[in-house]
Amino acid sequence: MFFFNRSRNSSHSDFSAVGLDMHSHLIPGVDDGAKDVEDSIQLISGLKSLGFEHLITTPHTLQDIHPNTMDSLSKGHTLLDGKLPEGSSLSLSSEYYLDDQFKDQVNADKVMPFKGNRLLVEFSQISKPHHLEEEIFNLGIKGYQIVLAHPERYLFFHRQFDYYTRIKEMGVELQVNALSLTQHYGKGIKAIAEKLIENDMIDFIGTDIHHVKHLELLKQVPATKHFARLVDSGLLKNRDLI
Ligand SMILES: [Fe+2]
Repeated sequence: MFFFNRSRNSSHSDFSAVGLDMHSHLIPGVDDGAKDVEDSIQLISGLKSLGFEHLITTPHTLQDIHPNTMDSLSKGHTLLDGKLPEGSSLSLSSEYYLDDQFKDQVNADKVMPFKGNRLLVEFSQISKPHHLEEEIFNLGIKGYQIVLAHPERYLFFHRQFDYYTRIKEMGVELQVNALSLTQHYGKGIKAIAEKLIENDMIDFIGTDIHHVKHLELLKQVPATKHFARLVDSGLLKNRDLI
C-alpha cells in the first residue's frame, strides 16, 4: 500500500477519526459501569464530545458477578429511550465472559451480536481458559465472528506473543482498549498494546468506559503516537460498524 506513509503520522485531537465506539458500559444499573440514567447520559455526552457519535454499548454478561440476559440488558437500554443527546446513536450488545452461562445463551440463541454477527468476548486476565481454541472454533461453526476484548490485558499472553498470531489466524478480531495507550493499566499492558499496533494486528479500538474518570483519561489518547499509527494504518474496522 503506497497510500499510507507511516513516517508521517497525522496528529489527532479527538476520536472523530474513529467515529464509533464498540466497547463501553453505558446501560444504567446492570454492571459495574453507569449507575443510573443520569450517569449514562453524562458518559454518552462525554463520548460525543470526544468524537464518538455512534456507540455500541457492551455491558458485562458474567455469570458469577453480572448474570445479565438479553431481557435484563434490553430493559436497561429502554430506560435511555428519548434521553440521548442529539446526534448520538446507542445500540446494545454485550461483553460476554467465556463461562457456562455464555455457552447456554449461545446454544439457546439468546445472545446479542453486533454487525457482522460479532460477539465481543473476554475471559480471565490471570489464567488462560481451558479449551480456548476449541471454544473459538465452535463459535465460528455457529456463525459468530469473535472479537477479543483488550487482548493486551491478558497477562499470560505477554510471555507468548505468538499466541496473538495464532488466534488471529483462527479468525479472531482484536480490540485494543484506548486507555492501554496511556499508563492507565500499567507499563507492561501499554507495551503489548503498542506492539500489537506495530504488528498491524488490531482490528478495533474501544474505550471500555465505565465511569466519568475514564472520560478525562481518554482525552490523553488521541495525541499518542500509537493512536495515530493505528488510525493511519487504514486497518481499523470501527467505521464498518456504522
Ligand atoms: Fe469492558
